[in-house]
Amino acid sequence: MKKLIKNGTIVTDSQVFRADLLIEDGKIRLIGENLDTNDAEVIDAAGKYVFPGGVDVHTHMDLQAGKYRAVDDFYDGTVAAACGGTTTIVDHMAFGPKGCSLWHQVEEYHRIADGKAVIDYGFHGVIQHVNDTVLKEMGEIAAQEGITSFKVYTTYDFMIKDDGLYQVLKQAKEDGIVIAVHCENDGVINHLRHEYIENGCTEPKYHPLSRPAGCEAEAIDRMIHLAAMAGDAPLYIVHLSSKEGLLEVMKARKAHQANLAVETCTQYLTLTDDMYQDPREGLKAIMSPPLRRKEDNEALWAALRDDLLDTVATDHCPFNYQVEKQAGANDFTACPNGAPGVEERFRVMYSEGVAKGRISLTQFVKYLCTNPARMYGLYPQKGTLLPGSDADIVIFDPQKSRILTHDDMHSAVDYTCYEGMKVQGDIDLVMQRGNVIVKDNQFLGKRGDGRYLKRGKGIIAE
Ligand code: URP
Ligand code: ZN
Ligand code: ZN
Repeated sequence: MKKLIKNGTIVTDSQVFRADLLIEDGKIRLIGENLDTNDAEVIDAAGKYVFPGGVDVHTHMDLQAGKYRAVDDFYDGTVAAACGGTTTIVDHMAFGPKGCSLWHQVEEYHRIADGKAVIDYGFHGVIQHVNDTVLKEMGEIAAQEGITSFKVYTTYDFMIKDDGLYQVLKQAKEDGIVIAVHCENDGVINHLRHEYIENGCTEPKYHPLSRPAGCEAEAIDRMIHLAAMAGDAPLYIVHLSSKEGLLEVMKARKAHQANLAVETCTQYLTLTDDMYQDPREGLKAIMSPPLRRKEDNEALWAALRDDLLDTVATDHCPFNYQVEKQAGANDFTACPNGAPGVEERFRVMYSEGVAKGRISLTQFVKYLCTNPARMYGLYPQKGTLLPGSDADIVIFDPQKSRILTHDDMHSAVDYTCYEGMKVQGDIDLVMQRGNVIVKDNQFLGKRGDGRYLKRGKGIIAE
């Protein structure tokens, strides 16, 4: 059945214009004025924006993190994503058993996602040690699985040291693979964590103090130099949180470092470290890197306005406040790190970004839809509205508003960090490949309808 979206305002990363949009066989067939056809179901979008479906390239569904497991599996998490206007995710895998082959987690993730996801999904691989086998497997997995990006961490148990990072970056350059990196200085963080706990400073408010912005900035600077020394290897910095880290990015931009992309997340733009002041509420916001100051929020908004960053993701990694997060009640270092956000991103970013005049409509689409797809080899199938693209579409009413509350959300987690926030604008409906999967905040799709995406080369790896 054809569908015709009439009279909407089409928004892409470069244009805003009034037009109709015809969908056939799950693809966008035509965009133009006064389109008419007898055999199409007509959806009136007068006064509404027609956006590409959101692409969130940083989620952790069903993540096993030490003894805790994130509470959204690939069903609940992707239902939440869909209801929040996101029609594609690229999920970051958890670490596997010590010493495992790179293939181990690829197989595990197909097992946990297949038959569950309700939106289309891909995976980033994860590198947890470096040897000749791992370096060889990177190219094999990219070619056979379309997993064209791998993540490394500069902290946590399976952090990679500089010599390993350099080898991975060189291999990535050779194979056309993007290296995504979590940047924090491990040595300083571990020292501070031990020092705080030994001195009885156990409350959540010590979490941000144990992971200062300088730790992020140092690791960003180091990664940027390692990537340059590896021949301008494709480097994607995940979840930039601080002004200090941003200054290192700006230095690299000024020096015209090639093949560098940078992501921030909704929470680093809209929430602050004030959340840690209440010992109970603070647990909800224990994530790494931690929330920063208002001044950091504003610096990141300015960077988005000035086109200095590339994407806005969520790092969705939910643990229940009443259960898993309580492990940190008497020791912040024992709390599982991470917070929900996949369902909130689209509405919060529209309201705090576009409605408040901090970014334009086209920048909104660029950061939430088009650039994430470009960075990770999904464009133009995903992230845009072009004839031939998948008909992944959000119809959005800028006149409506909503108070965000956990009760209206679909994730399996028991809280939202945005409880009570009034957002301007709301999602009317969401389509995936031409099927309406969400209407008026009700999920209408089907378990297992999401397809695995074999990705091409990310734009910085071409
Ligand atoms: O605290 C966080 N962000 N947990 C998820 C894993 C990561 O570091 O991205
Ligand atoms: Zn991270
Ligand atoms: Zn993450």
